[in-house]
Amino acid sequence: MSISLERARHLIENIYTAVLVFDKDLRLKNINTAGENLLSLSQRKIEGQRIGDILPGAGNFAETIERSLKSRQSYMEWGMDLKLPNTRSVIVDCTMTPWFVDDICQEVIVEMVNAHSYAKVLREENLITLHDAARQSLQGMAHEIKNPLGGLRGAAQLLEKELNGSTLTEYTQIIINEADRLRNLIDRMITPGGRQYLSNVNIHEVLEYVVDLMEAETPYVLDIVRDYDPSLPVIRADKEQLIQAFLNIIRNAVQAINRDGEIILRSRIKRRTTIRQHYYKIAVQIEIIDDGPGVPEEIVNGIFYPMVTGRAEGTGLGLSIAQSLIQSHGGMIEHERREDKTVFRAILPIQQRND
Ligand SMILES: Nc1ncnc2c1ncn2[C@@H]1O[C@H](COP(=O)(O)OP(=O)(O)OP(=O)(O)O)[C@@H](O)[C@H]1O
Ligand SMILES: [Mg+2]
Repeated sequence: MSISLERARHLIENIYTAVLVFDKDLRLKNINTAGENLLSLSQRKIEGQRIGDILPGAGNFAETIERSLKSRQSYMEWGMDLKLPNTRSVIVDCTMTPWFVDDICQEVIVEMVNAHSYAKVLREENLITLHDAARQSLQGMAHEIKNPLGGLRGAAQLLEKELNGSTLTEYTQIIINEADRLRNLIDRMITPGGRQYLSNVNIHEVLEYVVDLMEAETPYVLDIVRDYDPSLPVIRADKEQLIQAFLNIIRNAVQAINRDGEIILRSRIKRRTTIRQHYYKIAVQIEIIDDGPGVPEEIVNGIFYPMVTGRAEGTGLGLSIAQSLIQSHGGMIEHERREDKTVFRAILPIQQRND
């Protein structure tokens, strides 16, 4: 396959992998856009500089390039900690390949990816696969339970009629009530998904609607702090589904804080972001932050699975349903404990996928 130089340049400029080219004196010849972004450096400022001057804190990096040059071999390093000039550091997986012309080494090509974001993608994919499997088996089971449940309830009603108001109807009532309770639970397991009714949705309206609902069902005044980005664009989404998803997350936050706790609703635009292995130019990020005690340690890894609960009266379906609904919009929900606060973060893409 032969491609023109121009096209090769264009391709390298647009790939996700950072590419840096050094000459045999370890001076930088080229860096692509992914490289500039990863290292927070600009080609204009660092071109022609030696590696030690560009990344003074990254001695191991310079050594490995030198080794590759001397030994005339490719080297791979996983999880290399690169200290950047701005005191940040980044963990990268990288490959160094010496480049020969007429058996004389001319350059070293360095390819790098952010190991942290790669690990994050793998973690997200794992979470989604397991989550989907758990939901599917649960939904299958829910259907199986629903049919005999209808029969059970019908039979109890017939029996009740036969009992003609005797005190034994107390028992048929228990059967009917419990069958209803089970059916409600099963309906919650099955409902999410289905057909989406898309419209242009203002996420702040969704959040405000949910806050109204929560205020109506809470007997005391809630302390809700809005930290909204007013320039947030509308998104194409199923409004009802988003209301359901955010209701489940915000209700959990209300249940977690005590009366004098605080909930922060924060919205932000995220540019150039990767969600579930897909790159989006623009996405919306909503954080629901509370200062309650946090998710109990023993369930923290399973909170997005159905039936995982830390509350005596909980069914453990709220977050699993919310995750399914946000995922069906191409987004995802993450949880983290940050500065003594509980953060649930939903990311929803706005623009079309760019893959
Ligand atoms: N903001 C939060 N702070 C502390 N713990 C939380 C928070 N959100 C969720 N949790 C924990 O995660 C568990 C799972 O939440 P999820 O909403 O899925 O189920 P649930 O609230 O128990 O039941 P329900 O189906 O009624 O929502 C909760 O039981 C709770 O222990
Ligand atoms: Mg809940």
